[in-house]
Amino acid sequence: MNRPEIAKKGIFEACVLSNKQIRQCYYCLNLQLDAKGSDLFSDVIPGQFLELDTSSISLPGISDIPDHLKDSSQRSVLLRRPFSFSDVTVTQDLNGTSVKVQILYCVLGPASVRMMNLRRNDTVSVLGPLGNGFSIPDELSRAVLIAGGMGSPPILHLAGYLKEHYPKCEVVSFVGAKSSDDFPFSTRIDNSEGFVLEEFDRIRVPAHIATDNGSAGYQGFVTDLAGNWLENNKIDFASTAIFACGPEPMLAATASLAEHLELLCQVSMERMMACGIGLCQSCAVEAKTTSTDTHYHLCCKDGPVFDANDVVWQGK
Ligand SMILES: Cc1cc2nc3c(=O)[nH]c(=O)nc-3n(C[C@H](O)[C@H](O)[C@H](O)COP(=O)(O)OP(=O)(O)OC[C@H]3O[C@@H](n4cnc5c(N)ncnc54)[C@H](O)[C@@H]3O)c2cc1C
Ligand code: FES
Repeated sequence: MNRPEIAKKGIFEACVLSNKQIRQCYYCLNLQLDAKGSDLFSDVIPGQFLELDTSSISLPGISDIPDHLKDSSQRSVLLRRPFSFSDVTVTQDLNGTSVKVQILYCVLGPASVRMMNLRRNDTVSVLGPLGNGFSIPDELSRAVLIAGGMGSPPILHLAGYLKEHYPKCEVVSFVGAKSSDDFPFSTRIDNSEGFVLEEFDRIRVPAHIATDNGSAGYQGFVTDLAGNWLENNKIDFASTAIFACGPEPMLAATASLAEHLELLCQVSMERMMACGIGLCQSCAVEAKTTSTDTHYHLCCKDGPVFDANDVVWQGK
């Protein structure tokens, strides 16, 4: 894969601009990076990620912690936690570069429960930018984005990035979740368009919806919805590529779809990570070699974005 040159990484402070609940367990955190962070993040690309140190954030009051997390959230959080960005805003003025980063997060354990408690003007320690992001082929004229569950934030970032930097490229997205309540976005029901994801609507990227239980959009797998669309639309396969992020079974199905249609496909694999910088080997991804052997890449350092063809998918 033709990788853009990646900026250096570092540890720096970010100031909380806002931290709002979107729905149920989903929150939107906006951070203003300090001068060092802004410099490091000025060239960040979708698919890269950061790690937050949540160890100094206090727990919310016990009544604000979801019942099912009251016990597990008491665990200590020594390790930083990885998060993708759903949006990055870079501005230049006489004082230099200023970068704001948006994170959409799901509350499901001790670190994310602490993040619920972040207030405007709090500071948090950030390590980043980490990993390799999506690589956009020069000849791309249509990008098909496929997202599942908490894999959606970097796909939203990619959608906005393509609209801004590749205005001639047509961008279409397919977003799946368990039910209509499980999208990490603001939603509305529109008379003509049906169930709408506001964040995609705002950047004018069509989002086709799939839910496991049929409570919104197509009932079934988001990869089947995308597959039907690709089969039914006359597309120039040579200049179309798929970009995906979500649970691994969804990524494996996306890889099969791309192989069947002979489309380029990049997947972002959000493996469990401990160090995030290539030291602990906890995030190994089995990859093909030119022979029948396989070898291992580190998801945090060599990924999280991989060419779908390079990955050895479980069960294939
Ligand atoms: C590159 C990358 C990007 C990510 N981007 C986002 C994002 O944009 N928004 C977001 O909400 N989360 C994202 N995650 C997942 C996020 O890192 C975890 O949700 C977070 O670490 C949970 O910490 P915790 O202490 O709250 O819960 P933990 O106690 O650490 O985990 C709670 C539960 O979630 C499971 N879990 C944790 N991390 C993962 C994972 N990576 N894959 C599958 N299951 C997991 C654990 O097994 C456990 O059952 C990303 C992960 C990676 C590797
Ligand atoms: S998370 Fe430690 S090597 Fe990848």
